[in-house]
Amino acid sequence: MRHFLSLFFLILSLPLLHAQSRIGTGMVAETYEQYCSACHGEKLEGGGLGPSLVDDEWVHGSRDEDIAKIIREGVEEEGMVGFEGVLSDDEVRAMVIYLREMGQLAQRRSEREVEDPDGLVLESDHHRFRLEKVVELPGAKFWAVEFMPDGSMLLSEHSGRLYRFHDGKLGEPVAGLPEIHPHGQGGLMEVMPHPDYAQNGWIYISFNDRVADDNGRDRYLTAVVRGRIRDGMWVDQEDIFRADPKYYSGTSYHFGTRFVFKDGYLFFAIGDRGARELAQDLRFPNGKIHRVHDDGRIPDDNPFSDNEEAYPTVWSYGHRNPQGLDLHPVTGELWETEHGPRGGDELNLIRPGLNYGWPVITYGMNYDGRPITGKTAAPGMEQPVTYWTPSIAVCGIDFYEGEAFPEWKNDLFVSGMVTEQLDRIRLEGTKVVEHEVVLRGLGRVRDVASGPDGCLYLILNHRGSNERGGVYRLAPVK
Ligand code: HEC
Repeated sequence: MRHFLSLFFLILSLPLLHAQSRIGTGMVAETYEQYCSACHGEKLEGGGLGPSLVDDEWVHGSRDEDIAKIIREGVEEEGMVGFEGVLSDDEVRAMVIYLREMGQLAQRRSEREVEDPDGLVLESDHHRFRLEKVVELPGAKFWAVEFMPDGSMLLSEHSGRLYRFHDGKLGEPVAGLPEIHPHGQGGLMEVMPHPDYAQNGWIYISFNDRVADDNGRDRYLTAVVRGRIRDGMWVDQEDIFRADPKYYSGTSYHFGTRFVFKDGYLFFAIGDRGARELAQDLRFPNGKIHRVHDDGRIPDDNPFSDNEEAYPTVWSYGHRNPQGLDLHPVTGELWETEHGPRGGDELNLIRPGLNYGWPVITYGMNYDGRPITGKTAAPGMEQPVTYWTPSIAVCGIDFYEGEAFPEWKNDLFVSGMVTEQLDRIRLEGTKVVEHEVVLRGLGRVRDVASGPDGCLYLILNHRGSNERGGVYRLAPVK
């Protein structure tokens, strides 16, 4: 019976397992099966002996600490055994993340899938809006959307193509970009015009630069260059950030990036490149937010300028894989989102010289369901302003600055790829005072940007047999 049940569950969950294949798997799932399923059911749906753990109803409190406490100490008189001594603190932490994941999965399964979101009208806390398809390209995986002063749109594509969308048409890809060799998560990534583009014509891009090591093997690291587009050609290219090849590695993930310009500086992020301990090592560019002059020169007042060993462009450290950066329109503060491992996606307020904790503290666990650490906080390490456990695969962010949605002014929009969602967060200082999911299940939301027309623009990518990349806009509906 047991096997029959789990087979049934597997078949039911196949489409979703495809979307986030690790949920419900690994060490933590085995631990659940061994110690908990007899009372709480195979699917965590509850059984004769224990309540459902996926209905988001928590008798003993809904915070992670409350749930961890029950697992450790139990509720003797109600029949819940305590697992202190059986499960380590790290394993209890992993179990809490697992319960969150399975709760999310149960919720997503109950929502319907929409094939074509074009024209869909949705209701949110403050505004009604319609999703309008702006452009779609079969086979494409768009990475970033940005606007030019003339209202045209720049679109980068993972495979290495850069497009300009003008007068309702997607032009030919810009010719003559540097050679880009997509490798896993690396490819063409960020694109952004300089704030004085109208005068200087500079456009900045980031990509996974490739070198060959002594044995002829390919090595990669994030690089930033700028250039101009003239008659559809990329010209005048200059290096803005290109590290020594000794920092390059063969791994295909955690390239980070996203740009922010401020006061003549360029901020950008590089992920840990899979070498998590390097995020804590100031000598390496991995797992850092960087600051350079907008022409690539290294500022002499970066926070670790006095430390001869430190990588000179480091602005903050202890980051895993940041792929969202934006300036708060009122305070001018730098805000960042980064991918956690399995759980623990973060929103951070970035301040110079501070340590954001990865991998010493995290709200996530390893992809195979083994704990990384039971620690979510430590002295000298910054806490995220908020975090997502389970992960939504948090990506591009944008503080809304348009006029079309007056109630959204200065709210932060956050894209999520795995859960295909767009979140709206209202901040007061470093406090989240509103957090709503504005839409979900319409495609992998890779980036979000305020358009010159006041609409909010989204990249929605689809994988699978009908792979395509699209840009949609949220337009107000009275
Ligand atoms: C012998 C049966 C039994 C086993 C084994 C068991 N539980 Fe429970 N559990 C219960 C019961 C009964 C309750 C309800 C307690 C109450 O209502 O106060 C409960 C409550 C809980 C709660 C609190 C739910 C809430 O609404 O606040 C959590 C969390 C939980 N269990 C997790 C686990 C985990 C994780 C495991 C495995 C490591 C586990 N349980 C193993 C019987 C069990």
